Amino acid sequence: MELFVSCSRKTAPILAEELKGLCIENISESAAGVRFDADLATAYKVILWSRTASRVLMTVAKFKADNQQALYEGIREIDWTEHLDYRKSIAVDFTSTRSALSHTQFGAQRVKDAVVDQFKKDVGDRLMVNTNRPDVRINVHVQNDEAVASIDLSGDSLHKRGYRLEGGVAPLRENLAAAILLRAGWPEIARTGGPLIDPMCGSGTFVIEGALMAANIAPGLLRNYFGFVGWKGHDKSLWAGMVGDASRLAEEGKKRLPPIVGSDHHPRAVEHAKANVTRAGMTGYVKIEHREMAKARPPMKAKMPGLVAVNPPYGERIGESEELAALYKELGSVLSKRFRRYKVALITGHPEVAKNIGLGKRKASTLFNGPIECKLYRYEVD
Ligand SMILES: C[S@@+](CC[C@H](N)C(=O)[O-])C[C@H]1O[C@@H](n2cnc3c(N)ncnc32)[C@H](O)[C@@H]1O
Repeated sequence: MELFVSCSRKTAPILAEELKGLCIENISESAAGVRFDADLATAYKVILWSRTASRVLMTVAKFKADNQQALYEGIREIDWTEHLDYRKSIAVDFTSTRSALSHTQFGAQRVKDAVVDQFKKDVGDRLMVNTNRPDVRINVHVQNDEAVASIDLSGDSLHKRGYRLEGGVAPLRENLAAAILLRAGWPEIARTGGPLIDPMCGSGTFVIEGALMAANIAPGLLRNYFGFVGWKGHDKSLWAGMVGDASRLAEEGKKRLPPIVGSDHHPRAVEHAKANVTRAGMTGYVKIEHREMAKARPPMKAKMPGLVAVNPPYGERIGESEELAALYKELGSVLSKRFRRYKVALITGHPEVAKNIGLGKRKASTLFNGPIECKLYRYEVD
């Protein structure tokens, strides 16, 4: 099968690197994700193990679709009975770029009509529609009037791991947090015993993702919904075997975790982060503390310098940028005084205010937290 794996904008190179680490070869990168040929076991591996992927789409057909009729006919020609039966529910995601078919809602409606009509005619029954948790999610993307119809094997975006019910203010997407940690070299730092600290942890995304990564726990283990479950091609025993293997590795991995600490000055954030840590099965491995960033320091048990990963607040109110400037200045001063030889990964929606951190040379890259354009800055504290 041909797979397209999507990810957060600008993270395709990190996703490609991650997938190479899962022994996947011949990956071609584009702006929105990566494409490669795979068997079913490889598709399951990506869904269970990728920390940076958003969705895993299995190509079903490609055809020209420069008008509504061509779209309808192209979808009708696919034998959908190979993929689903009439007792199932479907949902359709439709996107388009640089194409005559630009109305996404209308496009989705035509695709749905074509699939439903095929079942009515050939099977004599109606499919149901469930936009929230369908048995099978169909994805159609049209680019330059060429349509690619796929089955969304992930079903829902893979950044929804299942541990974060409590989001808090402006949480980072889990797969973006994981991409930042990979880019910052967290797996190597963790292997040497260096700690991970987030002194403004909000709902705890960095520290939880960091713990799952360092313990080699598959991020998909906590999810209870996947797009392949209602798909006819699903191989239950293959999936169950892979989940069983990943569960055994998870128990082993927790034993070798370095110190991982998140803190926040907001009592509600602390409460949310603690609840998320518990749901992630990381109680006792990830510490969450109620503390001002100004009081942050390396954990007592730290044997080596580690990584500070931080996502300071986004100021949206007028007059807030002065407060933010002072906050960044303070963060810079805390890091240079107490975190010598640590690496720092800072993601911000306020690049101009971030200059106040004053930590010297930095590496910069652009990332997107959902629709918000952000900068990732990486420093090494002298
Ligand atoms: C953008 S949010 C972090 C979101 C987090 N990365 C997540 O995924 O949930 C910024 C956090 O910084 C915290 N914060 C702001 N000023 C702080 C300070 N002086 N000391 C400690 N925490 C602070 C806020 O309470 C908020 O939870």
